[in-house]
Amino acid sequence: MSRDTSPLADRTAALLLKGYDWLPGLVRRHGVPLRTRLAGRPAVALRGPEAVRFVYDERHVVRGPAIPEPVLSTLFGKGAVHTLDGEAHRVRKAMFLSLLADPAQVADLTERVADAWEEAVPGWAGREEVVLFDEAAVVLTKGVCRWAGVPLEEADARPLARDLVAMVDGFATAGPRHWRARRARARREFWAAGVVEEVRDDALSPPEGSALDVIARHRDADGLLLEPRVAGVELLNVLRPTVAVTWFLSFAGHLLHHRPDVRDRLWADDAAYLAAFVHELRRFYPFAPFVGGRAPADVSFQGEPVPEGAMVLIDLFGQNHDEELWGDPFVFRPERFLQRPVERDELVPQGGGDPATGHRCPGEAVTIALLEALTLRLARLDHEVPDQDMRISLHRVPARPRSGLRITVTGR
Ligand code: HEM
Repeated sequence: MSRDTSPLADRTAALLLKGYDWLPGLVRRHGVPLRTRLAGRPAVALRGPEAVRFVYDERHVVRGPAIPEPVLSTLFGKGAVHTLDGEAHRVRKAMFLSLLADPAQVADLTERVADAWEEAVPGWAGREEVVLFDEAAVVLTKGVCRWAGVPLEEADARPLARDLVAMVDGFATAGPRHWRARRARARREFWAAGVVEEVRDDALSPPEGSALDVIARHRDADGLLLEPRVAGVELLNVLRPTVAVTWFLSFAGHLLHHRPDVRDRLWADDAAYLAAFVHELRRFYPFAPFVGGRAPADVSFQGEPVPEGAMVLIDLFGQNHDEELWGDPFVFRPERFLQRPVERDELVPQGGGDPATGHRCPGEAVTIALLEALTLRLARLDHEVPDQDMRISLHRVPARPRSGLRITVTGR
């Protein structure tokens, strides 16, 4: 059987097999804009700050019809903010930003997660070894639920953490991980909708202004409350990605193990270096490979026609490793962010453009603050790293250190 190497062959199967290098590999061979086919449709892949500005403009790209069902049924949830366009998107997005872009909220969430970490450490010290990825997920789950006003029994923290992790872990695969993700989402949407209904029935009174309170009482562009299932979906869209910070923390553990020089520098109280470290961590390690939508009409980018209905992809992982933008992109060098500002449309681990008007992640400030707090605690934690396979395969989306980072905690 001959393999079609033309970029216009349908690439859906290759994407599932090749993971993070699928789009960057095609771009290396054929350049940008890259014309290919995905899910049976023509697709155009772009990268670079100009392309980011083009893609994050609703006149060129809309999201609603473009998100595949398997991603909705695992990662985002049907009816989520990710699927909205226009006024409906802006009103729903403002709700997220009121919670996540307010520095007081970010500080409060970070403090609650840091407290949960401090509570957990003595328990880790009593065990032969713990898996950092799993334990940090539990810490993040406890912290974010306390912050969000969501009641959580101690015994429920680990199962909830497991489900929130599963939803992220299984969105980009066709195997058992995917079915685990679907089951986790179905279970937790039911649970979250019930929590919202309790608030509306006055059976539960979360603190005023907490995420649960705001989401339960939010009115959409049509002036109506969200139906309970959708409100539950959006509550999960705060809890789940906060817990997903455990991916980056396990990458931080991976880096600190391989680069003791960086760990030493993190020991010193240097806020600028810590901030630069977190930007480099988000640039360097693989998480979101790309995002995309559909052209709502015939449009063109730098003279290249993009037909109505075509998929338009922005190569986030490729852009974060673009030689021209970064120089030595596969070298981990926090110092680069001491020497250059973080340009909005250059560093795109969580999307690009303006979060208020486009789909850029509203949780960047939270992600950065949590990573600063937890990386510092990890760097200062007395621990040993036993022999293990901590390789990170770029074929697996989302990538993670294979062992999850096993550590033996020897003190506080
Ligand atoms: C959207 C990545 C953390 C909430 C996104 C997008 C990416 C992303 C790539 C899509 C951007 C686009 O469609 O153009 C990440 C990564 C995180 C993270 C890698 C680190 C673990 C967070 C946190 C929160 C959050 C902590 C909230 C607490 C959201 C929401 C959206 C979103 C609600 C949808 C925005 C919209 O469609 O307008 N994120 N995110 N994320 N993220 Fe994050």
